[in-house]
Amino acid sequence: MDTQCEENNQTSGDVDASQQDAASIADVSVEVATVDHTLRKLCRKLRKTRRKPKGLKRLLAYLVNILHLAIFVAVVFVVLVVIIWLLLWIFIIHRESNTATYFAGMFRVAHVEFIPEYRQAESHEFVSMANKIQHVVTNVYRMSSVARLYKQAVISDLSNNNKGGVLVHFWMVFVVPRLKRPAMCDECIGAIFRDSIHTSLKNRSSVGYLLGLAVDIDSILINSVQRSDFTLSVTGSQCVDKLYANLPGARVPINVFSSWGGVNCLVKLTAVPGSLIRLTVTSFHIEPSDCVNDALIVYDALLPMRGRILHRLCEPVSSSFSIVSTSNVMLLSFRMTNGNKSFRGHFEAIAEEICVSQIETHLEPDITGQIYSPFYPSMLPPQCTCTWKFKTPKSTLGVALHFQNYVLKPKDIKGCDSGWWKVNEIIFCGSYVGHRTVFRIAGHSPEVEFRCSSRNSVQPFQASYSSYNISQPCSESHFLCNTGLCVEKSRRCDGLDDCQDESDEVLCSRPTKNCGGNRPLHPLFVCNGETDCHDGSDEVNCTQETTCSAISYRCRSDYCILKKNAKCDDVPDCLDQSDEADCVCGRPSPLKRMGLPPGTQRIVGGVNSGEGEWPWQVSLHFTGSLYCGASVLSSDWLISAAHCFSKERLSDPRFWSAHLGMLTQGSAKYVAEIQRIVVHEYYNAYTFDYDIALLQLKRSWPPSLSPLIQPVCLPPSSHTVTESHRCWVTGWGYRSENDKALPSVLQKAEVSLMSQSDCKKSYGPISPRMLCAGVPSGERDACRGDSGGPLSCQAPGGGRWFLIGIVSWGAGCGRPNLPGVYTRVNKFTSWIYSHIS
Ligand code: ARG
Repeated sequence: MDTQCEENNQTSGDVDASQQDAASIADVSVEVATVDHTLRKLCRKLRKTRRKPKGLKRLLAYLVNILHLAIFVAVVFVVLVVIIWLLLWIFIIHRESNTATYFAGMFRVAHVEFIPEYRQAESHEFVSMANKIQHVVTNVYRMSSVARLYKQAVISDLSNNNKGGVLVHFWMVFVVPRLKRPAMCDECIGAIFRDSIHTSLKNRSSVGYLLGLAVDIDSILINSVQRSDFTLSVTGSQCVDKLYANLPGARVPINVFSSWGGVNCLVKLTAVPGSLIRLTVTSFHIEPSDCVNDALIVYDALLPMRGRILHRLCEPVSSSFSIVSTSNVMLLSFRMTNGNKSFRGHFEAIAEEICVSQIETHLEPDITGQIYSPFYPSMLPPQCTCTWKFKTPKSTLGVALHFQNYVLKPKDIKGCDSGWWKVNEIIFCGSYVGHRTVFRIAGHSPEVEFRCSSRNSVQPFQASYSSYNISQPCSESHFLCNTGLCVEKSRRCDGLDDCQDESDEVLCSRPTKNCGGNRPLHPLFVCNGETDCHDGSDEVNCTQETTCSAISYRCRSDYCILKKNAKCDDVPDCLDQSDEADCVCGRPSPLKRMGLPPGTQRIVGGVNSGEGEWPWQVSLHFTGSLYCGASVLSSDWLISAAHCFSKERLSDPRFWSAHLGMLTQGSAKYVAEIQRIVVHEYYNAYTFDYDIALLQLKRSWPPSLSPLIQPVCLPPSSHTVTESHRCWVTGWGYRSENDKALPSVLQKAEVSLMSQSDCKKSYGPISPRMLCAGVPSGERDACRGDSGGPLSCQAPGGGRWFLIGIVSWGAGCGRPNLPGVYTRVNKFTSWIYSHIS
């Protein structure tokens, strides 16, 4: 600006000198003169301004400079941010939302004959066949609605197949943006393949043609799999082994050790065509963790397909057992963490069983023989059939099948997944139970058909058979139970479940104390620890050795005494004193208790508990929030309800934590992670029967936390709860059916035990493994969130507390005449000890 003004000064000087000339050409120069004039004015003005104080001018210039700098910095910053964001989007966000999804699949190619070269993936024959199949698969998906997501197919195995032709095992990779993930369901990807064959199916056969490849549409199975499964098998891992059983009956040993750095291996088994594979597990030494760390998963295929799991082995095995496949291939997927873990076993090719037999029963009602499930004693595969054609010597005689732990019930709308039976054209479903049953067929030449109907391998069964008199199934002196068993008539209404379904205990009047009468005293009153007869005759000779039965207490040395509640009553009753061993349980120490605030009705009709009042009470949190209750059994075992863990994610111990020694939520003395969850093998999600589970802690609670944490006593199976026991239900569950918020302080409510027959009046079918408790008005009860928690009863006279029930179910909460239903713990004493000791 300054320079310009200097120039303008000079210019204006020149203009002055030539002013006269300019005047003569006035018209033309008017404008020029005017511009010059204006310029001069401007410069004068500027000079005036320059004369203004210097500070302000500098400030202005300074500010202008700062502004420029700021604009420059801001622009650079914005550009940088945009670049970084773009890079992030390209390399992370975009990649993340576009993830690879893996599928494993199999199908049978009918018209290709298997040749031994197909076993070698490097052979020319394999490569050319695989290329052909790959081309077909690629073509199917490139023409489909997911064409843009399809990346590649890899043919992994070609095996010979019992149905003829070649069984193809393959992988597929799709790259899927997050929004499109729902389109990638197993069914959808399978349906694309099936649909493309559908149009070419001819003559009602299941084989259709895909670019000249004859594919059996019924054999197609496609499952999504984990990326790790794909990488383990495909990307050149060293730990994929192939074993062959080329001769029927010849055993091929399989031994796997994890001594060096853990194992993650696949072992592919193939047997001669036309045969099946029997895998025998001799021993499996692992640390039980619900298959989180160590596992063996056995597949009924050559790839790890979820729909083809035969068996998941998460627990150590010490006595051998066998699993049978449904075709001539099997895959073993081992995962063993570092340590002294090992697997020992073998496999062999076995013939498919033709299970049809004619059986003639004998005249007498004694057991005359046995029938076995197919492949017995191996586990039952998902597919099998068996037919037994019985014939009794007389038309008045029927066939009785005596099962050890299995029951047949008419098929209803519920699933039939532990065996499908057809007996004289009527369909029955089998299920496993913890007791004996007799299935009676009132016909003298019945045909009994059995079919496997489970998704995985299940326990085998065996049954003894005999004839029975159709018009009088049990002898004169016996009573016919609904379980088909015959029990002595004298056992009816004796308070004991002799029939195993309590059918001998229905329509019974309340037991009376017929002391000194000519009939024997009702067994409930004998040696129950309370004087029921004036002369005390019901409580004499209670510790003498007696025959072992449901009403006697079994000492460790296996002799029995009549005293029912001998355990942990502080009196040694057994000769070996085993009844008083392991009795650090059920005795809360007398701590200063919070007074019960009057009128604070909590749980359903409960009140706040005091600190240390229920030291066995546990709050079980699933992914961080209260989900169920539990009770402490020992330093590393808890007991709870099976239904708390029955769905997929719920059965994973990693999502659970146990809060011990807690009164108010958030103030636990010890928070434990869960190592494994043992759900009862007969738990039935429809009926809630066998609703019991055990939880092993990762780390034991420290003994220094006792008495605020302490086990509850486990009742022996003979344990009886008398009128003078006091029973309380405790938990942090809802305080009413429609409650929205959970209480923070542990609630307790006193409830009374109900007779089984009274409970059946409310609910109908109640299994012998269930126990009802409440109050007639319903105002005291457990509710949602209390499940799995304890129903604790105190032995009379300030004795110890026993775990009598586990909160299981109920219709709503606190409704009149609809009591709470609990798992009857003393039915599970030996099951519990078999796991925790
Ligand atoms: N099943 C419930 C739970 O998950 C417990 C229900 C108990 N109901 C009752 N009325 N006692 O927490």
